[in-house]
Amino acid sequence: MHTQTIPRGAAKPELYRELAASVGGLLEGEPDALANLANAAALLGQFLPGINWCGFYLVRGADLVLGPFQGKPACVRIALGRGVCGTAAERRETLVVPDVLAFPGHIACDEASRSEIVVPILVDGGLRGVLDVDAPTAGRFDEEDRKGLEAFVAAIVPRIDWRSV
Ligand code: SME
Repeated sequence: MHTQTIPRGAAKPELYRELAASVGGLLEGEPDALANLANAAALLGQFLPGINWCGFYLVRGADLVLGPFQGKPACVRIALGRGVCGTAAERRETLVVPDVLAFPGHIACDEASRSEIVVPILVDGGLRGVLDVDAPTAGRFDEEDRKGLEAFVAAIVPRIDWRSV
């Protein structure tokens, strides 16, 4: 399933190159949004070290609603502008939060989460959702994670029929 070449313990740039290539292969030829987002979340859950939650929230009106994910059950509905997810979505820019306890309005789904990164998903200029990744240690995500996860989202976007979301 296109994941054989992902090296465990690789440096971040190499790991993210492999993840973007793998998700491209994994989603090739299948436009269904639910299936593809589920496999993309599973890929990150399997191969990103040091995380406790990863998954998608999708735009539904003025809210983000929980989509495919890996981890503990999570908050279902987040208003745009609320929490880390809603703030990144509203600003349409990636948010790296080194310490969620210091982020005003952070929504604690899994109390183990200490740091978080949220990447907006923009399709033809329209906001469709976010990718959210949480870690149980402070400062887990840096600039390499930001670039890598933005590249991961960029690899997913053209391989999904967003009308099926
Ligand atoms: N912490 C997020 C909520 C989603 S969970 O982490 C899965 C936030 O503040 O938006």
